[in-house]
This record gives sequence, structure tokens and C-alpha cells, in this order.
Amino acid sequence: PTVAVLAGGLSHERDVSLRSGRRVAEALRSTGLEVTVHDVDPDLVPALSQLRPDVVWPLLHGAGGEDGSVRDVVRMLGLRVLGSDARASRVAWSKPVAKTVLARAGVATPEHVTLPQSLFRELGAAQVLDLVVGQLGLPLVVKPSRGGSALGVTLVTTRDALPGAMVECFSYTDTALVERAVTGTEVAVSVLDTGDGPFALPAVEVVTDGPYDYDARYSPGRTEYFAPARLDAATAADVAEVAVRAHRALGLRDVSRTDLVVDAAGVPWFLEVNVAPGMTETSLLPQAAEAAGHDLGRLYRALVDAVAR
Ligand code: DAL
Ligand code: MG
Repeated sequence: PTVAVLAGGLSHERDVSLRSGRRVAEALRSTGLEVTVHDVDPDLVPALSQLRPDVVWPLLHGAGGEDGSVRDVVRMLGLRVLGSDARASRVAWSKPVAKTVLARAGVATPEHVTLPQSLFRELGAAQVLDLVVGQLGLPLVVKPSRGGSALGVTLVTTRDALPGAMVECFSYTDTALVERAVTGTEVAVSVLDTGDGPFALPAVEVVTDGPYDYDARYSPGRTEYFAPARLDAATAADVAEVAVRAHRALGLRDVSRTDLVVDAAGVPWFLEVNVAPGMTETSLLPQAAEAAGHDLGRLYRALVDAVAR
């Protein structure tokens, strides 16, 4: 099959997407596939219409990609697209919506509130933040309700730090997700489906000096990774089960990555699921695949072949 990789786009995660796209294209080419890489710009539709690749693989992080909108456009050209459909992507892309779906599916997820920016104008910031701390306590995590790569995310340990965290968050989005912070082991579990149903790759554990922020994610050497994660066998099975359950409950396809925290009692807490997980040299899914003994080219090729069939 011929493959068109989509990378770039206009989101805050454009640079990450370009890196993911390059890596996946290289890996696929190593298996002998013909791969073109396209940015999301006015040339995209004419280029895809002319090329008519067998499979389009959007490696677009952030808005436009993970909310499913670019996928809708590609589907209208009658092309096969790797990954979750637009509707499922949109649901997964909203962290509060995904958390609610998972909570109903019986998965633990930290208690949260969603705060539209307009509420601060209506009630005044001090009153809103007092209510939040009253309900959730401290520490808290403030994040954009839709977003990725930890942009706009702050761990808040004191009431005084909350206004600054809100300002940071609202510079990326107009709705904040404020979540009770769960301390424990941070792990990510990638789920793949090459045609025989979704299966989990080994969990990857993330260990950082400070927050696992944008720099910690994409500067090689800044973060320590354990692949597989240092979990006992029962807990490793539990986190794998949660990730597969998230993939199924949200109706995701082909590839996803669920991020969790395992607390001191061994309980896995669902944080979010990514429909376009990072595929850069420091990203988690490629590390998990290599830890499981997969050759990245062959594994990505298997995903493509399953969609091309
Ligand atoms: N949002 C980034 C790309 C990730 O989840 O890996
Ligand atoms: Mg994410």
C-alpha cells in the first residue's frame, strides 16, 4: 500500500507532530513502503485527491487532529484513514467527557470540576477558586479541558498559586479542568489493534525531577523512563486492562494511549486518553513497542496493512 502521513497542522503541538510524522514515515519506509508526508495547509486536499494513497495516517496532535476535524475532511475524499473516527476522537479529546465515560465504565478517575472562563467574570475569581478548593481540597492539577503535551498544565499545592495556574490554562483554552491531584507512579499504556482486537503494550513509567512538562517530554535525557514500568504483575495487568477498557468504551480504533497514575494502594487512576499519541524519539508509545520486542517499522506497517485490507 501507499501511505500519506499527515504532520504539522496549526495546533500548539505542531512541532511535536512534525517530529512524530517524520519518525513514523522513516519507520514505514524501512519496510519498503512508499510514504509521503503532508502538512495541513491549503495544498492538502488537492495533493491527496491527486495521489489517492491507500491509507492516510494523521499524526496530528492537538486541535484539528485529535478533535477529528481533519479526519472528516480526508474521509470526504473517500480515503481510508488510520485511527479513531471523528466522533470518537472528539469525545476522547475532551478530558472531562472522557473521564465521565470512563467513570461510568467503572474506572477510577480523580474527582474534578470544569470551569468555563465566563464563570470567573460572572462570580469573580476569588469566589470561584474558594468553591473549587472547598470541594476538591489541595493539591490540584489545573489543565486545559482539551489539550496535549502538558501545555497549560500546572500542579497547584497552595491556594495562592491557583490564580496564576488559571491564567496559564486560559491562555490555551476557554475551559479549565481542575482535578484532585493523585500522587503515585505515572504510567502510560499504549493500545494497538492490528486487526485481531485491541491489545496493550507494556506500561511505560515516567520519572521526572520536576513536572513532566513540555521540556521534560521532548528534551532527550530530561526524563527517566522505565519500559516496562516497575509495577508488580497484578498492577501491570490492571493498568493494561484499564487502557483497553478506555479504548473500547470510547469506541477508539487502531491506536490510543491512556495516561494513568497508580496510587500507593495500587489503584490505577485514569487521567486521559490520546487518539494521536506522540511518536517522537522521546515519546511513550515507541518506547513501549520496543520494550515488547517489536520492530517499529514492522509494527506500524501492521497497523497500515490492517486499515488497507
Ligand atoms: N500529546 C502528545 C503528543 C502525546 O500525548 O504524546
Ligand atoms: Mg494528552
